[in-house]
Amino acid sequence: MATEQETANAVVNGGAATGSESLTVTDNRTGQVYELPISDGTVRAMDLRQIKVSEDEFGLMAYDPAFTNTAACRSAVTYIDGEAGILEHRGYSIEELCERSSFLEVAYLLIFGELPTGPQLDRWTFDIVHHTFVHEDLKQFFEGFRYDAHPMGMLLAGVGALSTFYPDAKQIEDPEERYMAAVRLIAKVPTLAAFSYRHNRGLPYVYPDNDLDFAGNFLSMMFKKTEAKYEPDPRLARALEVLFILHADHEQNCSTSAVRGVGSSDVDPYSAVAAGVAALYGPLHGGANEAVLRMLRRIESVDNIPAFLEKVKEREEKLMGFGHRVYKNYDPRARIIQQHMDEVFEATEYNALVEIARELEKRALDDEYFTSRKLYPNVDFYSGIIYEALEIPTEMFTVIFAIPRTAGWVAQWMEMNDDPEQKIARPRQIYTGDRGRDYVPVADRKGPEKIVGPPARRPKRPRRGA
Ligand code: CMC
Repeated sequence: MATEQETANAVVNGGAATGSESLTVTDNRTGQVYELPISDGTVRAMDLRQIKVSEDEFGLMAYDPAFTNTAACRSAVTYIDGEAGILEHRGYSIEELCERSSFLEVAYLLIFGELPTGPQLDRWTFDIVHHTFVHEDLKQFFEGFRYDAHPMGMLLAGVGALSTFYPDAKQIEDPEERYMAAVRLIAKVPTLAAFSYRHNRGLPYVYPDNDLDFAGNFLSMMFKKTEAKYEPDPRLARALEVLFILHADHEQNCSTSAVRGVGSSDVDPYSAVAAGVAALYGPLHGGANEAVLRMLRRIESVDNIPAFLEKVKEREEKLMGFGHRVYKNYDPRARIIQQHMDEVFEATEYNALVEIARELEKRALDDEYFTSRKLYPNVDFYSGIIYEALEIPTEMFTVIFAIPRTAGWVAQWMEMNDDPEQKIARPRQIYTGDRGRDYVPVADRKGPEKIVGPPARRPKRPRRGA
């Protein structure tokens, strides 16, 4: 720590005396000057704690609701440059991975840091394929859900329930247990996802077909009827595989932060990943493509687009599938999806919603309201339309998002566990409530005379970011 005089010099000399990798802060309450080291473009929030008015004070904290400007970890899994629209996993561009890799290769890359060699990939694929079945008791567990249960609620419960089938996964420091949890999660989440759909439709569950690849097996578990063997259309299976790759990881988003936050308590990985599923359920995160489809259906026809966009500007509506916390440019994933759309539509029936989506995008990108706010289509704008073309019902969209994202959650969970700087997540707060109130016995409390039913609805709060 530099002395006050040295830091004062640093200010006078424009930072030359102490080097440029530091921040000099003057506390105007005391006149005290502090020098905070800058590393990787960040200052440590704990370094603020030394800034205080008196010795017995707690010290300065950073206030950052929704963590919009706080790095909570160091990570080598995924790189995003939101301004430039770049997404890379372990240094490989998403464009190249989508073109040249299978989803299981990308999952391996995320988790182990390198693309697998041939023998590594064979072993990895073998292990995943041989853990796709779920315990029959899980099937019984799913039977307990109402016929119309939302499949995402079922998946959430199913992933949480997996922890009870594999109690040894609690040994989170054991490399073998970790490996098995990674394999089981990636292998079984598609099975649970498909079972949730079949339950919802009143259809019998279809067991995994280990002769098919990852995406083909999922389509089989979803759509197989009476045929002896389901043969997926290779164009559709490839499009689904690409969607899986595109959704495999996306650095510290809401659900990944949930997995890391819950996992930081040293809970087993199934429970931590269940937290990720829960976070993904929300319409501002994984539920957005479902919301896009609902929006397109409400718009109904290309003629209604201008009126809809006016409502967005009036803030009566939100343009779902547009905007992103990180991308302030075209989401590269949206661009890749677009390249696969024609192929999918060739293999499936015409869908009028595609036309509405394309026109809506065109008009929004021509409109100063959206461009000035850097609102571009995100991955969810078109992914829902592809799922729809694959005849996957809307309520399954988020469930399908969870299948590949499981690989990212596992990779990030493992990285967190190996990071010596991490401890149980425990943010601070700015307390805004009362203090030291006198307790009043119930008979003496004053309040409205007549209370009937639940409290009045609160006014709708303004929409917040994810
Ligand atoms: N429609 C209309 N206006 C929007 C939208 C939108 N979709 N998104 C942002 N804005 C406006 C917002 O009202 C604000 O305007 P102003 O400055 O005048 O108040 C401005 O753009 C900045 O928005 P913000 O709320 O500060 O942005 P954010 O980073 O907090 O929110 C977001 C990001 C993704 C939550 C938001 O853009 C959104 O709700 N989009 C729709 C939902 C959606 O598509 N979510 C999927 C995200 S991609 C999937 C993933 O990676 O997980």
